[in-house]
Amino acid sequence: MARPKIALIGAGQIGGTLAHLAAIKELGDVVLFDIAEGIPQGKALDLAQSGPVEGFDAALKGANDYADISGADVCIVTAGVPRKPGMSRDDLLGINLKVMKSVGEGIKANAPDAFVICITNPLDAMVWALREFSGLPHEKVVGMAGVLDSARFRHFLSVEFGVSMRDVTAFVLGGHGDTMVPLTRYSTVAGIPLPDLVDMGWTTQDRLDAIVQRTRDGGAEIVGLLKTGSAFYAPAASAIEMAEAYLKDQKRLLPCAAYVDSAFGLSGMYVGVPTILGAGGVERVVDIKLNNAEQAMFNKSVESVKGLVEACRGIDSSLG
Ligand code: APR
Repeated sequence: MARPKIALIGAGQIGGTLAHLAAIKELGDVVLFDIAEGIPQGKALDLAQSGPVEGFDAALKGANDYADISGADVCIVTAGVPRKPGMSRDDLLGINLKVMKSVGEGIKANAPDAFVICITNPLDAMVWALREFSGLPHEKVVGMAGVLDSARFRHFLSVEFGVSMRDVTAFVLGGHGDTMVPLTRYSTVAGIPLPDLVDMGWTTQDRLDAIVQRTRDGGAEIVGLLKTGSAFYAPAASAIEMAEAYLKDQKRLLPCAAYVDSAFGLSGMYVGVPTILGAGGVERVVDIKLNNAEQAMFNKSVESVKGLVEACRGIDSSLG
């Protein structure tokens, strides 16, 4: 059977890391697409030359023509500009919306059957716009944010508790911005919820609150350190986990920016929610019960995403 084809739209920091991970995990053959000439070709050749050492046979190709993504099974979109220190993700909206238009049209014309994972920020608005421009079914277009935000939360918690990251599960819902909603009640160490661990004296409520805030600011902390761009290793690893869930029909329960129509009391918008990812794309949105405080935080996040979507509509009148 032919290997799956994975198209990476954007061959920058995240795109290159995605290609590396996809090849090492042998998820399929990789096409790196970018408008910059030479960059995707150079990265593809460099990565291909690591194949004999790493022991993978995946083919890697660089491209500047959308025809090269033809028939892709998965497209992961990082095209656009990242943040610089002092910028919020929302500051990227105008520039990246135009990029989503050209990428959406490229996917529509060349890879209409693909499962599409958007990483470009501001995430929830960009994945909505990409879906609109591409016209693909809603369940085949998702945004990567919740896996990354949850991974950041899990990392901080594992350090706090001195336990393996593998045993920490965490849930972060809502929009991928300052209003994201880390759910402590649904986050555990091997099944023990965080509020119980506070009661058991493993940490204090104040320390847990600080970890929640550090998770919310996780992207900005890295932008502040790097100064020239934003995080790329953990975002790439997170999107690869989602791509693998689709390609191997794993039915993973992962938080993603998915199209929500009826669950969580929402009617037709993209926002971070728990989903089941399998061969059908987003096969189910898992409508978990939120308490009043969680619901209030989630509502605030939803309002912020709606504001960004309205801003997109204001910039591009073709968006219905
Ligand atoms: N079509 C294709 N590629 C494009 C386009 C376009 N219209 N516009 C820009 N690009 C390419 C750039 O040439 C660059 O190689 O997108 C790539 C982006 O790479 P980086 O600048 O290294 O950004 P990266 O760190 O990979 O982040 C990409 O993901 O997390 C988000 O906020 C982040 O929006 C940013 C995106």
